[in-house]
Amino acid sequence: MSSGVKQIQYYEHKLNIRRVIEEQSNLRNVDAALNICDLSSVERKYNLWVKHLPRITPYYAVKCNDDPIIVKVLAELGAGFDCASKNELKLVLGLDVAPERIIFANPCRPVSHLEYAQQHRVANGTVDNEFEVYKLHKHYPQSNLIVRFKSEAKEAQCPLGDKFGCDADADATALMLLAKALEMNVTGTSFHVGSGCSELEAYDRAIKKAKNIFKFGELLGFDMNLLDIGGGFPGSDDDKFQKIADSVNSSVQRHFPDDRVQIIAEPGRFFVAAAYTLVCKIHARREVRNEAGKLDTIMYYLNDGVYGSFNCILYDHQVVTAEHYLVANRRTPAHSMLNFGLIYLQDEAEALPEFKSVIWGPSCDALDKISEDLRLPNLNRGDLLGFSNMGAYTVPIASPFNGFELPRTLYFRAM
Ligand SMILES: Cc1ncc(COP(=O)(O)O)c(C=O)c1O
Repeated sequence: MSSGVKQIQYYEHKLNIRRVIEEQSNLRNVDAALNICDLSSVERKYNLWVKHLPRITPYYAVKCNDDPIIVKVLAELGAGFDCASKNELKLVLGLDVAPERIIFANPCRPVSHLEYAQQHRVANGTVDNEFEVYKLHKHYPQSNLIVRFKSEAKEAQCPLGDKFGCDADADATALMLLAKALEMNVTGTSFHVGSGCSELEAYDRAIKKAKNIFKFGELLGFDMNLLDIGGGFPGSDDDKFQKIADSVNSSVQRHFPDDRVQIIAEPGRFFVAAAYTLVCKIHARREVRNEAGKLDTIMYYLNDGVYGSFNCILYDHQVVTAEHYLVANRRTPAHSMLNFGLIYLQDEAEALPEFKSVIWGPSCDALDKISEDLRLPNLNRGDLLGFSNMGAYTVPIASPFNGFELPRTLYFRAM
């Protein structure tokens, strides 16, 4: 592995996480956890998207991970962007992304953010209520209104329908009539089935409703030219993504066969979840004994927790798994890699006794629990635990609560 352009290291073939960890000679002395970010994973996801959803342009949902390096990689690949605020707009526009490649996909925005969008000619924005239509009439009357309606999946990791989206029939119609009366421009419609969607049919159901909204808009004389199918695509299950893509493709073909309608989506976790592996260090441990003095549970305290990267457990309802851990200081001189119950010590598998274990974050808050009811071998202070699929809804939300540092990030890319 060699150092390349500033901050990015290059690798051949496949990123070897184990090797990256082993090469971090200072890991035992550094307090912060470590994010290993594989930018080529983002690129692979982009290519997968283009292969399976060729008609649908992805507008990456910046909220999911607003690391400027990630945003830049996606901008260079040709993605558009879903921004929710003035600062997200600033980030994306600062990378020379044309305003036409941005949708302001937050149906309830402060006036100053709308004014910023107007100054920078970001015309496409979603609305789902009459107050926002009046606000736009006053502050950005030339913008393109994309009517966001509610159409939720029966099963999703994070449903969004309680907060956003009007009723697809009566409300959407009323909003379009109001826009017409105010001489404003409706150009399309959008929905979000819920983040981490687990119902294949959800997109088809929503696309069918979108078709009716298009028909009504056209009846009113609007040039309806944009369908935005939102996010919800899985981050680490590519088979599931392909099934969703097949369903979306046939639905779009059925309801929107006309190529003049531009179709976009707002994927977030799809692009970034799998790109990050978080490596945490055990900095303390405690043994809990029963009344007879027998060992019941071993508790481990890590250098990242639910107020940091693992906020995804609280806010994104993620289930995290410690997939491998490196026993760095016990078995000298060799490093050893474990996979739940198996230890690979210089390629020799060896079973270790396991104990009931709990993993905590570093803060003084008892809510800061990462995982419980685990069976782990007896680990020590200084041992490392790795968590994969940590790129979505982790980085931008993490806080240094209680004074604990946020993870640093190393970036890698295939040569
Ligand atoms: C408006 C909007 N678009 C897109 C997304 C991204 O969703 P996902 O990460 O499920 O693709 C979200 C997530 O909350 C959202 O609120």
